[in-house]
Amino acid sequence: MAWSSTKCKWVSVFVLLLAFSVSAVVEDGSLVNGDFETPPSGGFPSSAGISDVPTTIPNWKTNGTVELVESGQKQGGMILIVPQGAHAARLGNDAEISQEVKAEKGAIYSVTFSAARTCAQLESLNVSVPPASQTIDLQTLYSVQGWDSYAWAFQAEEEDVRVVFKNPGMEDDPTCGPIIDDVAIKKLFVPDKSKVNSVVNGDFEEGPWMFRNESLGVLLPTNLDEETSSLPGWIVESNRAVRYIDSYHFSIPGGKRAIELLSGKEGIISQMVETKPNKPYRLTFSLGNAGDTCKQPLAVMAFAGDQAQNIHYTPNSNSTFQVVDLNFTAKAERTRVAFYSVYYNTRTDDMSSLCGPVVDDVRVEQSGSVRIRIRFGGLGLVLILVCQLLIMVLF
Ligand SMILES: *[C@@H]1O[C@H](CO)[C@@H](O)[C@H](O)[C@H]1NC(C)=O
Ligand SMILES: *[C@@H]1O[C@H](CO)[C@@H](O)[C@H](O)[C@H]1NC(C)=O
Ligand SMILES: *[C@@H]1O[C@H](CO)[C@@H](O)[C@H](O)[C@H]1NC(C)=O
Ligand SMILES: *[C@@H]1O[C@H](CO)[C@@H](O)[C@H](O)[C@H]1NC(C)=O
Ligand SMILES: *[C@@H]1O[C@H](CO)[C@@H](O)[C@H](O)[C@H]1NC(C)=O
Repeated sequence: MAWSSTKCKWVSVFVLLLAFSVSAVVEDGSLVNGDFETPPSGGFPSSAGISDVPTTIPNWKTNGTVELVESGQKQGGMILIVPQGAHAARLGNDAEISQEVKAEKGAIYSVTFSAARTCAQLESLNVSVPPASQTIDLQTLYSVQGWDSYAWAFQAEEEDVRVVFKNPGMEDDPTCGPIIDDVAIKKLFVPDKSKVNSVVNGDFEEGPWMFRNESLGVLLPTNLDEETSSLPGWIVESNRAVRYIDSYHFSIPGGKRAIELLSGKEGIISQMVETKPNKPYRLTFSLGNAGDTCKQPLAVMAFAGDQAQNIHYTPNSNSTFQVVDLNFTAKAERTRVAFYSVYYNTRTDDMSSLCGPVVDDVRVEQSGSVRIRIRFGGLGLVLILVCQLLIMVLF
């Protein structure tokens, strides 16, 4: 009796600890005050008066000139862009803003955030979770709205990690730094490889956090490290980004997510898939139109092993996508599968937002295995006949 009640107590302690450790880890979604809409203790600073008292931003730690800006606020005759809601944070020269989160040690996380430029010539943003960091170039505007969402992934080396955004710029006008908003996080998992399809995450369903109401998609900038990719399994091997899109705002061939290729040859996604040398394979994928008024023609360049093919988007009737087949022979244990847009497309409604063909449901399967079996079957039949003939002749 005493023993079992002790055991019971230990079990409850264990369950409690487990519950505590689970609930302590950051949840997928917005960081605390990730949209900068929580009013500071003294209220939001008035956009007219420049205050000497540094703004404190609830739940964030700042260093240098970090200001809360308001939608509609003007700066030198230019209206500042606030990606979502009424407020966002602007980083001055060398300024940084950070928030500590509890992570699961060893897990891969992706941070999604929106950023807008102000007046600097060479705006960029250094996003880091020390020691990992990446500088994201804000020079190219992908959408006409004046802001874009980006994703960056890191591996948590400790349980307490700090997500830091820093403006590495040094402008004459210290207020010419980037504006950030809508910071969210998501723990990623690497989907299992199936026996028949060697592509990991070929349907692109696993990827960075996307707000349900955010309609511009999320840009995936250059990332050559397959281990820490916001799009598990894939890398973005070009200097420009590709766009991760959802079915709530775009036409998607399958499931809820897909990739829209942008900027022609400057936006390339690829994956090294496991293959057997000298074996025939078939690459299949869906080639679609995102339904974002992208100016046609749309086409992709697809690479697999010894093959490279230019495929134009020509769907049947009113479908928004077509399924493409490409036969190739593997040359090694690992084969690079890659895609880029053949054209440099923009939307017809605003003539400047970048857009392009959609790629989804990528599969690489060994081909000919059925044929080999049939041929073997035929051969077997011939052997049996020959044997019978021999038996008849000999006996
Ligand atoms: C604030 O930034 C300055 C300059 O980058 C740096 O020298 C200083 O150590 C930082 N302070 C804190 C508390 O991080
Ligand atoms: C970005 O910030 C991290 C951490 O503060 C730093 O280690 C790294 O050198 C920075 N990268 C650039 C390009 O400034
Ligand atoms: C979008 O959704 C987030 C979280 O659900 C919310 O905080 C934000 O206010 C929404 N933004 C708009 C413009 O509706
Ligand atoms: C086109 O789409 C409409 C609505 O989804 C459908 O009713 C119609 O049958 C489709 N036409 C063809 C030729 O597939
Ligand atoms: C690929 O090979 C299969 C046979 O394995 C054939 O049926 C198919 O037509 C080929 N596709 C192309 C695009 O050549």
